Amino acid sequence: MTAHTTSPPAASPVGGFGSPSPLVFVDGAYLPAEDARVSTHANVLSYGTGTFEGIRASWNDDHDELYLLEATAHYERMARSARVLGLELPYGTEELVAISAELLRRNGIRSDAYLRPLYVLASDELPVRVEGVPTRFQIAVTPIVGDYIDLTGVRCTVSSWRRAPDNVLPGRAKLCGSYVGPALAKSEAVARGYDEALMLNSAGHVAEGTTSNLFMRRGDEWLTPAVTDDILEGITRAQVMELLVERTGRPVTERSIQRSELYVCDELLLCGTAALVVPVVSVDGRPVGGGRAGQVTRWLLDELRAIARRLDDRHHDWTTQVYTSAKGDR
Ligand SMILES: Cc1ncc(COP(=O)(O)O)c(C=O)c1O
Repeated sequence: MTAHTTSPPAASPVGGFGSPSPLVFVDGAYLPAEDARVSTHANVLSYGTGTFEGIRASWNDDHDELYLLEATAHYERMARSARVLGLELPYGTEELVAISAELLRRNGIRSDAYLRPLYVLASDELPVRVEGVPTRFQIAVTPIVGDYIDLTGVRCTVSSWRRAPDNVLPGRAKLCGSYVGPALAKSEAVARGYDEALMLNSAGHVAEGTTSNLFMRRGDEWLTPAVTDDILEGITRAQVMELLVERTGRPVTERSIQRSELYVCDELLLCGTAALVVPVVSVDGRPVGGGRAGQVTRWLLDELRAIARRLDDRHHDWTTQVYTSAKGDR
């Protein structure tokens, strides 16, 4: 099996993703993906023992440049996820950002793209444990085809599947095995005719979408679940919080959110690296904000898209140039 076990099928674009790019980075080498194999017996295949990230790169035609979005923050979070596993990443953050840029250049990526760094227990160890099992670090790239942005909004349902509590599967660590629950929740929602699931935690508080964080507006107040409510501490979540302060002049309230607040709020959105910001237009059939994307939600999406491509002068510190940094002459 190849390194692309979690990628969409290679033949046709699915859900905004194209075919995986040919070269991957594995333990110090840039290799063709078909040569980057893991063993059938790899510990992670049975137990989900590993951590991963998802990083966006955005292409700007006018600049003839590709920009990584918040790569440093993603690798810092990956280091924290590894620490939860009792492991240490084999590379420092700066080095990982440089490797990511090099991989994009070697693949000749001149479109939006999604990077998938993965750090797993990859040797043939049958016992269920973490310590002393040899690891593998890899990064793969998948181009994003067209606009992965959903402007029409999504219809959500509250899932019957809960987010795992911190002392079962810590949500703030982006662990491979943690995504079984969200996968069940997403498929349940789709089978019931919805686009996406909203997951409560074991205390019954609103946690997040299956692969996204959640924000709501009630009147003038913006709210998001607290990091102690079994959510992933999203990088886009932090950006949205900062942008909302810039727009409204007041901080976002981080607190536990009750299920019924989903039914009475004035604006609701999901956010994450791939789609940036997605308006939620209904929950369990009840329209949110008249059933259309909210004004602030649309503004946030425009802002993040502009920042990701460096279309304006703001927040350049959130992006890293991929091609210019290599040549140093533009
Ligand atoms: C469970 C979960 N929550 C939230 C997010 C959003 O996080 P980020 O903005 O860092 O992509 C993701 C995406 O990685 C996720 O998988």
